[in-house]
Order: sequence, then C-alpha cells, then structure tokens
Amino acid sequence: GMETDADTFYRHLPKAELHAHLNGSVSFATMKKLIARKPHLNIEHSMTAISSGQRRTLEECFQMFKVIHQLVDSEEDILMVTKDVVREFATDGVKYLELRSTPREEAKSGLSKTRYVETIIEAIRQSKQDEVDIDVRFLVSVDRRNGPRVAMETVKLAEDFMLSSDGLVLGLDLSGDPAVCNGKDMLPALQRARNSGLKLALHLSEVPSQKEESEILLNLPPDRIGHGTFLHPEVGGSDSLVDKVCKQKIPIELCLTSNVKDQTVPSYDKHHFQYWYDRGHPCVLCTDDKGVFCTDLSQEYQLAASIFALGPEAVWDLSHQAVQCSFAPEPLKQQLKRRWAELRPQVLQPPPLQ
Ligand code: IMP
Ligand code: ZN
Repeated sequence: GMETDADTFYRHLPKAELHAHLNGSVSFATMKKLIARKPHLNIEHSMTAISSGQRRTLEECFQMFKVIHQLVDSEEDILMVTKDVVREFATDGVKYLELRSTPREEAKSGLSKTRYVETIIEAIRQSKQDEVDIDVRFLVSVDRRNGPRVAMETVKLAEDFMLSSDGLVLGLDLSGDPAVCNGKDMLPALQRARNSGLKLALHLSEVPSQKEESEILLNLPPDRIGHGTFLHPEVGGSDSLVDKVCKQKIPIELCLTSNVKDQTVPSYDKHHFQYWYDRGHPCVLCTDDKGVFCTDLSQEYQLAASIFALGPEAVWDLSHQAVQCSFAPEPLKQQLKRRWAELRPQVLQPPPLQ
C-alpha cells in the first residue's frame, strides 16, 4: 500500500535490532529463491510464514523452522540468506543488528558447524564491503533441544570465534522449544560462556510454569532476557522473579507480533511490554523472526506506539535505549549514539511549513 507520514517516521527512525534469529528472518523474496533452488522439496511459502491475522501454536512454529532448515542447508544458502537479511534490516532503518543463529551440520551438503559460523561471518564482512549501512554482530545460539553436551560444544565454538572474528561474535543465545529439556541442565555451559566473556541473551519464561528454571537462570545472571512473558505475578510468575530482573536491571527483548502470532500472549493490548515499560524497566522492541511472523522492526515500533500510546519522543527514547542495551563494545555504542544524535532533528522535527 501507500506509505503514510507515520510509516515514514518509523522507517526513518534509527533502530537497533537485538533479537533476530537468522532462519526465522528469511523474507518472502529470499524464500522464493530458496524454493526455486529446491523444487523437489515441494515447500510452499505458507509452510514457512504466518500471514496477517493468522495464529499458530508454539509447537507449529517450531515445525516451521524444520521446514526452513531443509531449505537453508548449504554454505551457498547461508551466505545468500545472511546477506539478504542484513540488507533488509538496513533498508528498514536498522543501524545496528545483533543476529543470532544455531550452528548446524548438514551431512548432505558437507556443512560443518564451524563452516556454518564462518559463512555467516563472511556474509557480514561482504555486507560491510558492499557498504550496506548497518553494523552487524553475531550471537551463537544454543538450541536447548540438543541437550547439555551439544550446548557445551557450542560454547567452545563460540569462544573460538569470539577470539578470531575481530569482535564480530559477542555472545551466546539460549533458544529453542521451551517445552524441551530443562534449562537447569544448561547451567555448566552457560556459566562457562559467561566466564569466558561471552554475553548471554537467554529466552526466559516464554511459556508458563518455568518459575524454577527462570529463578536458576536469573542467578547467572544473563545480560539480556528474551521475551520473559511469564515472569510477572499477574501471569503466574512471581515477585521474586521480577525483583531479580529489576534489581539487576536486566534488559528485556520484547517481540509483540511474535508473541501474539505464536499465541503465548492473548492479544497486542495484553502484551507484557506494558508491565515492564510502566516500571521504567529497560525494554527493547525486537522482531524475533521477521520472516516467519511477517513483520519488520519499523512495524513493531509503530504497533507499540499505537497500542501503548507512545508519542514520538517516547518512541525515540526507546530506540536510543536499545543501543545502550546492546552487547556492542563501548566505542561502538558511542559511535551509534552520535549517529542517533545526528539523525534526531530530521526524524523528530516536522518539516517547516511552506
Ligand atoms: P536459526 O537458529 O537461525 O536456525 O533460527 C531458527 C531457530 O531459532 C529455531 O530453530 C529455534 O531454535 C530458534 N527460535 C526462533 N524463534 C524462537 C522462539 O520464539 N522461541 C525459541 N526459540 C526460537
Ligand atoms: Zn527468539
């Protein structure tokens, strides 16, 4: 449709995306190219994305990732997907992106976990060379489905890349189906990651009844929380969990459309953004999986503003705060903040009347 003034404001707003899973972020256009490369798989776009108005269960969402993984299974695929995703975030006005992905080995295409990560790093470097206007960093994901042994291996891989990637690899993400495996078993791997200097972004209380696990993981503590949907007492969490998060000022990555479409939140207006934002807690709007959930970060800011009645200044503060919550080293944070300051007048001030 036609772009309105409001659309333009959110597109031009400089943004930092801190919670984006690579294979969940594949756009319709890229998906078409992947499907054309592998016609024998008989995959249709409806099997990899939830269009507007539709909802799925969390389980169905994890099924979708399996389908996407069939389409993205070679070095060539990963290079293309990463470059496309980076370019799309840049086009959406994202100036800083922390991309995350689970290293995968694929016997069929001879892909190893090391090559998987190297290929993503190569794609990030190529995007920089092509002068795509965005700074990208990488978080290595641990899929809890694969258990503690693989988690420990993944941490070692992340440590190696942290030291050899010129600062592109900054941390570790714990994700995957929250119904599978107890997060407690991940503790040794997560502790090791933390001690070696990897930042920790952990999916936490994404589903109900994970109080004990969340309590244990919050004691690490993580550097950021993904979702945290069921932490607060109004939805079955507890004051002690909220206290831990607030006292340690652990930023929360909030993904509105993702949580509505995978039905962990009943509707946009009941999203826990409100709970944390009203407390003045650091909240970061993110997309989670812009491909699967058919959204982009501009749209997520626009939705949050309209549903929670945020004015342009409040929206600006939110995107500015995201830089502070990032894992970027201090000099890069300062550089990004200068960028935000330069752009502020043209984004916030209306053009003079003719
Ligand atoms: P990948 O790590 O790049 O392959 O991205 C897809 C993976 O991200 C999935 O297989 C999950 O492990 C993880 N993921 C994506 N969205 C979610 C979510 O909402 N909750 C938990 N894990 C997720
Ligand atoms: Zn996620």
